[in-house]
Amino acid sequence: MSTLAKTPHQVHPARTFDVERVRRDFPVLHQKVHGKPLVYLDNAATTQKPLAVIETIDHYYRHDNSNIHRGVHTLSERATEAYEKVRVAAQKFLNAADSKEIIFVRGTTEGINLVAQSYGRKNVGSGDEVLITAMEHHSNIVPWQLLCGEKGAKLRVAPINDRGELLLEEFERLLGPKTRIVAVGHLSNALGTINPIREVVRMAHARNIPVLVDGAQAAPRMKVDVQELDCDFYAISGHKMYGPTGIGVLYGKTRLLETMPPYQGGGDMIASVTFEKTVYNRLPYKFEAGTPNIADTIGLGAAIEYLNELGLDEIEKHEAELLAYATSRVETIPGVRIVGTAREKAGVLSFVMDDIHPHDIGTILDNEGIAVRTGHHCAQPVMQRFNIPATARASFGLYNTRAEVDALVAGIHKVREVMG
Ligand SMILES: Cc1ncc(COP(=O)(O)O)c(C=O)c1O
Repeated sequence: MSTLAKTPHQVHPARTFDVERVRRDFPVLHQKVHGKPLVYLDNAATTQKPLAVIETIDHYYRHDNSNIHRGVHTLSERATEAYEKVRVAAQKFLNAADSKEIIFVRGTTEGINLVAQSYGRKNVGSGDEVLITAMEHHSNIVPWQLLCGEKGAKLRVAPINDRGELLLEEFERLLGPKTRIVAVGHLSNALGTINPIREVVRMAHARNIPVLVDGAQAAPRMKVDVQELDCDFYAISGHKMYGPTGIGVLYGKTRLLETMPPYQGGGDMIASVTFEKTVYNRLPYKFEAGTPNIADTIGLGAAIEYLNELGLDEIEKHEAELLAYATSRVETIPGVRIVGTAREKAGVLSFVMDDIHPHDIGTILDNEGIAVRTGHHCAQPVMQRFNIPATARASFGLYNTRAEVDALVAGIHKVREVMG
């Protein structure tokens, strides 16, 4: 009997979102840093893991560890079953039409590189264009630059306004007969902007241009429905959605995935091999060469289950309330300026303080037990757009509280005090 059928740690569905109960699921939160209770506000970089995830991975290594797909023995069958169950869970999570459209990758970065190297190398040629936006994370810029460099193609960038919103008319103007693919973030990690993906896809599809969406920050914060968005590719990272590092998902439409060459060669991605010719495996295995990250895939399954049980709608509501509260408090602190004030926004509060370097803000806040990120957030062009070297960024997760926002505000006052 499969011992993987049950998740060791059971989450009880909440009728109303109870943040104090949720916090009990996250052991790491219950510690002091520099003698102060930890206030973890670096969720856009990575999220903490609930017991459900930690115990599922522990359970897998204690009871079921084995290589998948190739074995007839019991452990291998158990591991394979658990691994493939996560594919179906991920399919439902994103509302993909078929589980073969779910490809396990290391994370968003690898998902985007896969599309750039497989779809891109086949379809982008000399003089062609790839269109991105001015608010992309480096992982949705550099893979396209590499492709354009190799092919003699051009990277075009749709501009944003001073609030950090995509200028849709400009975006549409940049869609031309040479545009081969559009790659756009769903939720900006540096600004918190939520992009109008449905509209972007509609504009691109009207010209037969496929759209890849970087969903790294959106997947943990809102219900994603790839069929409703009608995007062609959607990439997510497990570690940003309360799951393990080193595992993510690339969704792709069957019609496109079928035409794409493999990204990497090796075991599992083949149907047959001779020295003369290799026949590739069917989807999705064609894109999963070598032994995958089995344990963390299974851990991701536990994270998806955890999010489903809490409910993305509830999580979205909770984080929206927190962000509104944090914004109203932080924007009234003298000398503080919020960077990224889009009307559609979630999860992220980036700010600068006159004359104080974000690195100093981060260090002083850390002394107060408050973890925020400071720097360019892997979005240097965003910093250039706003003419700043860096920001301090508080990013919220499902376990953050209003009391933690109050601690952040007190911490920012402390920064002012210390820095004079
Ligand atoms: C918007 C966005 N895209 C892509 C990534 C890259 O994700 P990963 O490092 O998990 O591949 C990140 C990570 O910060 C991100 O915030």
